[in-house]
Order: sequence, then C-alpha cells, then structure tokens
Amino acid sequence: LDQSHIRNISIIAHIDHGKSTLSDRILELTKAVDPRLMREQYLDSMDIERERGITIKAQNASVEWRGYRINLIDTPGHVDFGYEVSRSLAACEGVILLVDASQGIEAQTLANCYLALEHDLEIVAALNKIDLPAAEPDLYASEIENVLGIDRTSILRISAKTGEGVAELLDAVVERVPQPAGDRNAPLQALIFDSLYDQYRGVVSSLRVVNGVIHSNDRVTFMQAQRTHEVEEIGARRPIMTPVTELGPGEVGYLIAGIKDVGEARSGETITHAYQPAATPLPGYEHPKPMVFCGLYPIDGDEYEELRDSLDKLMLNDASFTFEPETSAALGFGFRCGFLGLLHMEIVRERLEREFGLSLIATTPSVGYRVIDTKGELLEVANPSAMPAANLISEIAEPMLKVNIITPSTYIGTIMELAQSKRGELVKMDYLSPERVEINYRLPLAEIVIDFFDTLKSRTKGYASLDYESDGYQPASLTKLDILIAGEPVDAFSTIIHKDKAYDYGRRLVAKLRELIPRQSFDVPIQAAIGTKVIARETVKAYRKDVIAKCYGGDITRKRKLLEKQKEGKRRMKSVGRVEIPQEAFVSALSIG
Ligand code: GTP
Repeated sequence: LDQSHIRNISIIAHIDHGKSTLSDRILELTKAVDPRLMREQYLDSMDIERERGITIKAQNASVEWRGYRINLIDTPGHVDFGYEVSRSLAACEGVILLVDASQGIEAQTLANCYLALEHDLEIVAALNKIDLPAAEPDLYASEIENVLGIDRTSILRISAKTGEGVAELLDAVVERVPQPAGDRNAPLQALIFDSLYDQYRGVVSSLRVVNGVIHSNDRVTFMQAQRTHEVEEIGARRPIMTPVTELGPGEVGYLIAGIKDVGEARSGETITHAYQPAATPLPGYEHPKPMVFCGLYPIDGDEYEELRDSLDKLMLNDASFTFEPETSAALGFGFRCGFLGLLHMEIVRERLEREFGLSLIATTPSVGYRVIDTKGELLEVANPSAMPAANLISEIAEPMLKVNIITPSTYIGTIMELAQSKRGELVKMDYLSPERVEINYRLPLAEIVIDFFDTLKSRTKGYASLDYESDGYQPASLTKLDILIAGEPVDAFSTIIHKDKAYDYGRRLVAKLRELIPRQSFDVPIQAAIGTKVIARETVKAYRKDVIAKCYGGDITRKRKLLEKQKEGKRRMKSVGRVEIPQEAFVSALSIG
C-alpha cells in the first residue's frame, strides 16, 4: 500500500469518555465488521477488561476510509501502563484526543497529550457526547485551547453514541495527520508495541514497520532480545486477523514467529532481517521496572506448585511482572512478586484466582527501598523482612512520584489535606479555567500504594483525576515495624514505615489482631515493636473452659459436629510458635491501611 494513503493514529481518552464507543462507531462506519457480528466494545477482548471497562492490552484495528487505510492503535488507559502508552504512540503520526464534553480534559489524558507532543504527533481534538444535555462544548473547547494551545475552532464536536460527527472526524484524520515517513529500500526496522500470548499460536506481536519491508517467509532478529526467529505469519487486523505476504513502511500489523514467551517480544523491541540487519535498533527501548511488590501465598499450602505453574503461564503473557520464591515463617512457601503499579497487582492476582482457580493471601504491598548500610554498600530492599537491622543502616531512600491532579477548584482544600497526610510536597498549582485547577505534588510511592486513589476519588466524589510518573529516590526517616505474637516476630506483618506514622499504625494493627486471634489456653501478648522497643501491646486472654464442656453430655451428634468443625478450622490454621492463627486473621489484618 502506498504510504501516502496510510494514517496511523491512537485515541487518547480518559476512562468513560467514550473511546470504546467511538472505536465501535468507526468499525461500523468503515464496514470493517459485519453488522450482524458487531457487538458492543468489539476491541476490548479480555474478560477482565470488559468487566472493569478499561483497556489493559493495546489492540489495533485497520480500517478503510474513502481510499485511505487508517490504523487504529489502542493505548492502555491506566497510569500503570505508561510505558506501553509511549510505545503505542511511537507507532503513530497522530492522535485523536477525545474529551467528554460534559467533563473536560482529565489528568491522564493531559499527560498522554504531552507524550504525544513529545513524539511530534498531530493532535486531532474532539469533544464527545455533545448529545448530552449537560454537555458544555464551548467551555471545554476553550479549556483545551488554554492547556494545549489547540485552536478551539479546530476542535470537532461529536457523539460516539449517535454517530454524529464521526465521519467528519475520520476526514479530519485523513487531512491533518501526516503520512508515515520511512524508506522502503532501507534495512528493516519494525517496532513491536504490544505482544499477547495465544495458547495455540504462541506470541502474537503487534508491529509497525518503520523502514524496509517484512515478508511472510523472512528470518528476523529481535534486536534487544538478540534472538532470531522464522516468521510464521504476518497479517493485518481488519479487525479479524488476515494474513498478508508483506508489510511495508508505515504499515501496521501482527507477527507470529513461534515464540513462547512474551518476554522475548516486549513492547519497544525492534525487529530487523537476520540476513541484512539494521545498524541500530529504533530509539526509546526501556525494560519496564516493577514499582510495587507483595508476597503471594496459597491459602492451601498444597497449592504451591500450582501457584508456581500459574505464575509461569501468566508470565508468558505479561512480561512486566516478576516473581521469585519466598518463604515466610507464618505463611509458608510463596512468591515475592513485583508489579508496575497497584492496578497491575490487582489484575495479576485476580487472574490467578479466576483463571487458575487459586485462593491466595497477598501481603501488604510495599515498594523497593534503596538502603545504604554502614559499610557504604547499596542494597535494593523490596521485602520488609529483608531489611537489615537498624544499627547496620546508614540511610534509607524511598521511591518518589511526581503526581499531577486535575480537580474542580472546590476540592483544593480537601486534596491538600490528603496530600499533606501522605507526606506530599506541593510543587505547583495552575488554574485551567476559573472552576478547574491542576495541582502538582511530589509524594512518596509508599504512601500512594495503600489507599491514595480510593481516598482521592471518594473525597472528591470522583471528580478529581490523577496521573503520576516516577521521580527518583529521596532519603527519609523510615523504620521497620515488627509484630510479635507471644514473643515471636511474625514476618508477614513486618512493614517499613515512616517514623511519625509507626506508632499509630502499630496500635491499629495490634488492636485488629486482638480481635482476630482466637483465645488459646494461655494469654497471648500481641506487640508492635521497632527494633527491641515495644510501641504498642494488646493481650488475647486465655479461655477458661474446654469447648466440649458446653455440650453438657447428652447430644452426641452435636458433639461430633463440633469436633469436626474444630478439625476443619485447624486445617486452615497457621501456627506461630505455640499460637494457632486462623488464615482469616492474616487476610483481614493485611488489609488495614
Ligand atoms: P473505558 O473502556 O473504560 O476506557 O471507557 P471508554 O472511554 O472506552 O468509554 P466507553 O466507550 O465505554 O463509554 C463510556 C460510557 O459513555 C458508556 O456508557 C457509553 O455508552 C457512554 N458514551 C460514549 N459516547 C457517548 C456519547 O457520544 N453520548 C452519550 N450520551 N454517551 C456516550
């Protein structure tokens, strides 16, 4: 296909601003999908995505519009997947900025627009949902003009729901977005911007050819992974996968090459010919780095091997999470896992439980600290139980985030209070319009991982939106807090915490554990300690009577039932020293913020 007739675009939109609906309308309008097969949100194929209504994995579709081929490259809609957004944008010449005309632009959308501008992409802005009575397209058009410098008269007004203005939007894409550059005769350079694992076909990668031509029978080298593979199939998603014999400069499609592990075909990878390789890979490759960690343990210890197998399988599909075996005195054998962020963590856990039928205990999420010990050596500590003793540490630095919040100005006070309670430092504040403001904070990641998003959302009734990026490390006054049950430290409850917060957190956890731990035949002290100093204490009093004594003789069936119940309960007990703790206690205690 002639390059002048190709347009490669992404749709940038906030959750619920209508990206899926617009994609559906485009597929309909371009007759890419048989209307009888058209179902809502055709492009969101994973179940979890569908249920949560968010796009996790980039997918693409290739449609024809008035003699032009428009390749839609879907970007993931959540901050955890920022690097994937950047790779998807690297495959485009333009973006549709889609903004709900009753809401205005949100923080993540703005961040993604800045990314698009960094990549020199043409932004075609459109206000969606103009059919809504609450739509205020004039107001939000001038807001977009203010923050992004896009002429308000160039902003389209559409309804993805009714289809109004969608044809004009496609015309504007063809007119305004430049054709892809690229040299057909140069050595092959193709960018992978997404890879999925398919049970039957192995890894299916989405790619954009930048220079040269890839053929269906080529031998290709993955430049970062330094692996060579035979191409099995290349094709285009229309949106059904359709094999083709070649893809030239500017073209977008998929590649199957008998690869079994998405780790070998990561986003950002450059593909070239094995026989005539390009001199250099395409720029911008990064290895995504886990930011948030937690221990995952099977509730039933017998499921350990199954958990390992499931993690291996999941890894074929998701190259950005990590795991390694870990043992906990309290929870037994499990794995320490690393994730890009909180949502990523939830998704992985949910998939393990749902797709692999496992029941899991997850420890409190933690972050990776940089510790300098007294010998001057740097250690990366992602697990509180691996933290050296306080007297061996000279400095602990924690990961920081640059956080950008957009909110109606009525919530400024609430947000400042929240950010302050999370050790945030105000960087700057700008009014987008008299009613809406953009606030920048620098915040420790550790303070965000527990409940920052939920609290922000609930305190602003869902009106504030947020985006973040990492912002280095900063030394802080941090300490390890241990919980001792009957004098024994319980590793699963250890945590790294700011000194000013240790006392309050320790007291709350100890109080909660007192409620959760059943009485034993002796008094059980529960203590929170920093080093050897106990900062909070509660006691579970011994019970007085045998359980069976309650069943005053006669009723034998009742007695048996009670004994069986006890046995059943025992199986789900973990013993810590002499104390039996029900699984439940771990699950509930680990969920306190
Ligand atoms: P995520 O998949 O969660 O990222 O959301 P999305 O941006 O894909 O939004 P989606 O297309 O799912 O739309 C969100 C809601 O807005 C749905 O209930 C749509 O029916 C509705 N919606 C989308 N476009 C329009 C529109 O033009 N007018 C009206 N009235 N509603 C719309």
